Amino acid sequence: MTHPQTTDPGPAVAELDTIVSLAKRRGFVYPSSEIYGGINAVWDYGPLGVELKNNVKRAWWRAMVQERDDIVGLDAGILMHPQVWVTSGHVGSFSDPLVECQTDHRRFRLDELPGGENLSATDLRDPGIVERLGLKCPVDGGPLSAPRQFNLMFKTHMGPIEEDSNAVYLRPETAQGSYVNFKNVQQSSRKKLPFGIAQIGKSFRNEISPGNFVFRMREFEQMEMQYFVRPDEAARIFEEWLPRRLDWYTRYGVNPERLRFREHAPDELAHYAKKAIDVEYRFPFGWKELEGIHNRGDFDLSRHQAESGENLEYFDPATEEHFVPFIVETAGGPDRSAFTFLIDSYREEEVRGEKRVVLGLNADLAPYKVAVLPLLKKRPEIVEIAHRLRDDIARDTMAVYDDTAAIGKLYRRQDEIGTPWCVCIDVESLEDGAATIRDRDSMTQERLPIEGIKRAILDKLSAARG
Ligand code: GAP
Repeated sequence: MTHPQTTDPGPAVAELDTIVSLAKRRGFVYPSSEIYGGINAVWDYGPLGVELKNNVKRAWWRAMVQERDDIVGLDAGILMHPQVWVTSGHVGSFSDPLVECQTDHRRFRLDELPGGENLSATDLRDPGIVERLGLKCPVDGGPLSAPRQFNLMFKTHMGPIEEDSNAVYLRPETAQGSYVNFKNVQQSSRKKLPFGIAQIGKSFRNEISPGNFVFRMREFEQMEMQYFVRPDEAARIFEEWLPRRLDWYTRYGVNPERLRFREHAPDELAHYAKKAIDVEYRFPFGWKELEGIHNRGDFDLSRHQAESGENLEYFDPATEEHFVPFIVETAGGPDRSAFTFLIDSYREEEVRGEKRVVLGLNADLAPYKVAVLPLLKKRPEIVEIAHRLRDDIARDTMAVYDDTAAIGKLYRRQDEIGTPWCVCIDVESLEDGAATIRDRDSMTQERLPIEGIKRAILDKLSAARG
């Protein structure tokens, strides 16, 4: 396995707030329920954010399902039989260490307190740790309680009566939907091992200390793939997925210097994992998990088999063996990925003495692929051509028309939201039937016949996909 980065290259953007304010101002991400003062750890995606996130999900689906013959998709329910979460170990073990200030009753995750950041997983479970290290409330300096394990699952009730027998959970991971459907998918799609099930969907975690914008939310989406393999092949296949997943981020433009692998220490492993390696990104707030790759062994299928009484073994016709497959999981999320693409593509430049802000997003991820801009909005003939061209391009991809400022300002606005190409319809267009396409990154312009512009844009887009 290669570790692409061992030194710290620093973040692409020094201040997280630069991205948070651009996201709000330009309509990528807003705080949820803002007119009521907001709700902690939930964010809403605006007109540009929903396009970016959908493009991230499509790019992942293309790489993980469309381009592969051995992975199929699934969309399981968020609500599942409550026994699923008992069997999976989440009811018993899916928790974080919580400490509470005895004076102001604020609650903190032990590993995020000043002085608690580098504690081992064993230390985090030690009831005497707060006293031993003399940790205090970071807000008022008050004494802190001993850590207790706080379960992260949201609980609700199914049906009109709220009683414990009706309790169900909002799923904290999509993975379990793939495990309980293992037999359904394998038999209906007639897949042979190794094969995978991919899912994208909402998950919920009652995080103790959410934050850093959309990095850690209580409602978020995951993009997870469960790869079912022969037990004797799991270790090798696990290693094969590592570079594949890291390369997906660089293929869409993330600087490889800001990506690295980090292996989980034995006492840090999640309750289901035999081995886990994170793809980490250098966020403005440090190196943090972008995606996890896990060898889950036969933990999940064996337990579901034992608890449900259903036979979840696979029969290998080549060796005539029956066995419970091992699972290699790749677990990422579109929120954290879209956030990474936003941060990593952000740059400020000086052009002719003025600041230019550019989101150098891969064209495939950019919310709009093209902006069609009339040079003179008072000339109806020019405006009409521009609208017609936008409408034609919009049948195939996202295109926007804008005439609310002078052309220089319109270009800058598109640069700031990552639009890779702008088409300007000018007075000459009325004479020669041609228009200029301006490239976001090089700012060079080429003149093409208007009738060939849509094709040229679609060809550039297809090239950007690689
Ligand atoms: N099925 C394994 C699993 O859930 P995880 O590392 O806990 O593994 C996988 O989560 C991915 O889901 C993370 O790498 C991240 O991209 C996303 N994710 C997890 N918790 C999140 C949160 N609170 N907010 C945003 N994304 C989150």
